[in-house]
Amino acid sequence: MFKIIVVENYDEASREAFKVMKEVIDSNERPVLGLATGSTPIGLYKKMMADHKTGTSYKKCITFNLDEYIGLPKTHEQTYYTFMHDNLFNGLDIPEENIHIPVGDSANVPAECIKYEEAMKEYHIDIQLLGIGGNGHIGFNEPGTPFDTLTHIVDLQEKTRQDNARFFEHIDEVPTQAITMGIATIMKSKKVLLIATGENKADAIYGMIKGPVSEACPASALQNHNDVVVIVDKAAASKL
Ligand code: F6R
Repeated sequence: MFKIIVVENYDEASREAFKVMKEVIDSNERPVLGLATGSTPIGLYKKMMADHKTGTSYKKCITFNLDEYIGLPKTHEQTYYTFMHDNLFNGLDIPEENIHIPVGDSANVPAECIKYEEAMKEYHIDIQLLGIGGNGHIGFNEPGTPFDTLTHIVDLQEKTRQDNARFFEHIDEVPTQAITMGIATIMKSKKVLLIATGENKADAIYGMIKGPVSEACPASALQNHNDVVVIVDKAAASKL
């Protein structure tokens, strides 16, 4: 079930998202947060860091990130590990042992996927934050991903690698694989908070909410989740 909140702009989207996130954090003894990378959550993360600066502690939070590249050392500037520390964790007081990000340079990546999924069984995610790709992807689950997938290895599509090449010196440096929570993993979280802004997300938002539930639009799986808050600006909502 979707609760759709339409806002004017990115800043308002971040403000509304912060309210939803804060409510979950305040109402749980040990909040378990599923987090995302990308440009979408940065505004929300800024609000969380500002909240911490005014005295709120985030020490009791446990976090799980959606995905990570395979093959880059953890501290490489393009890992999601680095992104999360630069854009959120360094500005909060969550103990490092409470932070979970798939280990993309593990010597045994298939075992890492199983271990990650097991850890989420122990800590049931209270709120999973999501962005959405222009093609409806969530996490690194591209169109065609079966809905029953748990945390798994994905081969990155050539288009995705080209899109990300701008962050690397050369396209050859862009990883060819990633670890991602699967769609079934995401569906297990108690609540989903999906933010989308901008016209380039309008088709994906339409497909997610009004399209058929189909692997052609991975986010459409969320039609079968009972608690999804969608925060969209007018441009992203324009096709609804
Ligand atoms: C991020 C992730 C991706 C992004 C999506 C949108 O961890 O898994 O699914 O949420 O690609 O990216 P942005 O926010 O950059 O438009």
